[in-house]
Amino acid sequence: MKRVAVVTGGASGMGLSICHHLARRGHQVAVMDVDGPAVRRACAELRAAGARALACEADVTDRPAVEEALREVRAGLGPVEILVTSAGLVAFDSFTDITPESWDRVLEVNLTGTFHCVQAAVPDMLAAGWGRIVTISSSSAQRGSPGMVHYTASKGAVIAMTKALAREYAGFGITVNTIPPSGIDTPMSRSSQAAGHLPGSEVMAKAIPVGHLGTGDDIAAACAFLCSEEAGYITGQVLGVNGGAVI
Ligand SMILES: NC(=O)c1ccc[n+]([C@@H]2O[C@H](COP(=O)([O-])OP(=O)(O)OC[C@H]3O[C@@H](n4cnc5c(N)ncnc54)[C@H](O)[C@@H]3O)[C@@H](O)[C@H]2O)c1
Repeated sequence: MKRVAVVTGGASGMGLSICHHLARRGHQVAVMDVDGPAVRRACAELRAAGARALACEADVTDRPAVEEALREVRAGLGPVEILVTSAGLVAFDSFTDITPESWDRVLEVNLTGTFHCVQAAVPDMLAAGWGRIVTISSSSAQRGSPGMVHYTASKGAVIAMTKALAREYAGFGITVNTIPPSGIDTPMSRSSQAAGHLPGSEVMAKAIPVGHLGTGDDIAAACAFLCSEEAGYITGQVLGVNGGAVI
């Protein structure tokens, strides 16, 4: 079955890889991201690869913008059947340095942004009696990473939200799963390395049992499977894609 997929944070990193993997499986892909030029570049790449792609420039924290983007998806491609929420904001601060504003912003993008997108998309899935939702959380929530309590709390809440959503919609043909990545080479991790918040790739690789960083494609392959017909009996699961870093 060819489906209509929306990928938030789809203009960069693992979101962009997820767009390509879903497109290669024949799905139509709406790329939703706050970075307009990057959205348009991503769509051009997808179309050049033969996919049907729609550019949706939207900030996931802006509920009216999310609603408008989904109206464009319905008009341009059809009702939303697959939603992947990869838009995210990372932050590094020692606990006592986290300002209330920074706390709110991280929660707003990572948690409330996920809430807006799922709530706006789920009526289409309920109407169809079929849906796939994959949230991108983080291994930091599994480990309890120091120096990023705001980020870790937001991603832990995404994992909890995923499980609750899975139970709420299990009887309606909708599965809801989360992938908590770790050590994935993306623009986000590179900028965190450049700012000195994360060690260099060689040092990071030594802490990963498989001995190297992961790629967006590693996340995208797992995500595309969770979005497939065959994954219909998998819901509420936390599928670590982390080179064995969290077992
Ligand atoms: N890279 C890693 O190792 C790693 C590890 C754990 C979790 N994650 C999570 O994976 C997800 C993807 O991260 P990535 O590494 O691909 O990063 P990335 O920076 O390459 O991509 C994130 C995308 O999200 C978009 N975005 C940010 N805020 C947005 C907003 N308010 N509205 C819409 N779009 C917004 C950005 O413009 C960007 O295109 C994030 O949720 C991140 O927290 C990444």
